[in-house]
Amino acid sequence: MQNEFTQVLETVLEPNLKQDIIKLGMLDKIEVDGQIIRVHLNLPHVDENTRTYLKDQCSQAILQLGDFDVRVKMRPRDTRAWQNQKVPFGVQNVRHIVLVVSGKGGVGKSTVSTNLALALSQQGQKVGLLDCDIYGPSIPTMMGVHETPKLNEDQKLLPIEKFGIPLISSGFLIEQDKALIWRGPMIHKIVSQFLGDVLWGDLDILLVDLPPGTGDVQLSMAQNTSVRGAVLVTTPQQVALADVKRAHSMLETLKIPLLGVIENMSGFVVPGSNEIINMFSSGGGQKLADLYHTKLLAQIPLDPKICACGDEGIPVVLKEPASLVSDSFLSAARNLCSQLDQFERDGIYSNVTETKR
Ligand SMILES: Nc1ncnc2c1ncn2[C@@H]1O[C@H](COP(=O)(O)OP(=O)(O)OP(=O)(O)O)[C@@H](O)[C@H]1O
Ligand SMILES: [Mg+2]
Repeated sequence: MQNEFTQVLETVLEPNLKQDIIKLGMLDKIEVDGQIIRVHLNLPHVDENTRTYLKDQCSQAILQLGDFDVRVKMRPRDTRAWQNQKVPFGVQNVRHIVLVVSGKGGVGKSTVSTNLALALSQQGQKVGLLDCDIYGPSIPTMMGVHETPKLNEDQKLLPIEKFGIPLISSGFLIEQDKALIWRGPMIHKIVSQFLGDVLWGDLDILLVDLPPGTGDVQLSMAQNTSVRGAVLVTTPQQVALADVKRAHSMLETLKIPLLGVIENMSGFVVPGSNEIINMFSSGGGQKLADLYHTKLLAQIPLDPKICACGDEGIPVVLKEPASLVSDSFLSAARNLCSQLDQFERDGIYSNVTETKR
């Protein structure tokens, strides 16, 4: 009977992530006591609506099997337990895998990923860049890469090296219109190839640019490998919005530690000067970092140079090293490094719950 209960609970989807609660590891146990069925869920910090929804859905699912008295108990997930576990899976010879995530599209994830990679590299780190935004890969354009990678005799993929950074992009390998219709298993396969079938070499940091929001790529990444953590990119206008909360809730659900927040498009650099004007209320990124008990890694100002450099294929950190924006990327890199060191000392990784690699 236990199995049947578990099976019907597979039909219950976590409403934000649209994945079933079993796959997300939210089911702790089911207790059967005559007609009383107790469903115990371990949840990240979700809002009241989500809790009520999950409670109703679990009850309804169990009631399909009979006239039971269903009691759903919810406990907040204890995040300390997984933070200290040993790394179960990583990518060979890669010390830190860092995911770049955001709640919404267009906040500057890819811009941050490329410039942060270069800034980290300028500070002596060996960095690789994985563009995992299978729905809209933009890093090849931003890095000015037009060739496609080759396979070696062992059928391993050789990243393209540009500005000293080995790079693999989903744009090199998949046709865009096909990727749009892919579902979980196909995405899972491609993500595991990016991690396991690429000759990344020895890296201090592998930066992974993800698609916006919460979906299959994020889930596959969490299930394929242990990552050191994620950097959450937001803009001042978005810090208070539901998308950011959803992205944070996704990280908690997938047990991915948060390394820090980057507030992008934070103030406007007056052209030809070193002056920054704040058009929107400032301080949101810091508040968000405080709320999530993490660090604000940097505030990156809005500067038209970023866009121009991106189009030209030479990231601003290289093209305009003396600019304010480049300074802000360098300080993001310094702060990220100190977080990575701290997390490594504390043994913090994401814990892979369901990996097949
Ligand atoms: N600080 C900035 N100043 C000026 N322009 C910026 C800044 N950050 C990003 N941009 C521009 O905003 C646009 C969106 O940035 P980007 O592509 O990095 O966002 P994204 O979050 O990766 O988007 P998507 O969700 O579509 O992948 C780009 O044209 C980029 O050049
Ligand atoms: Mg992008």
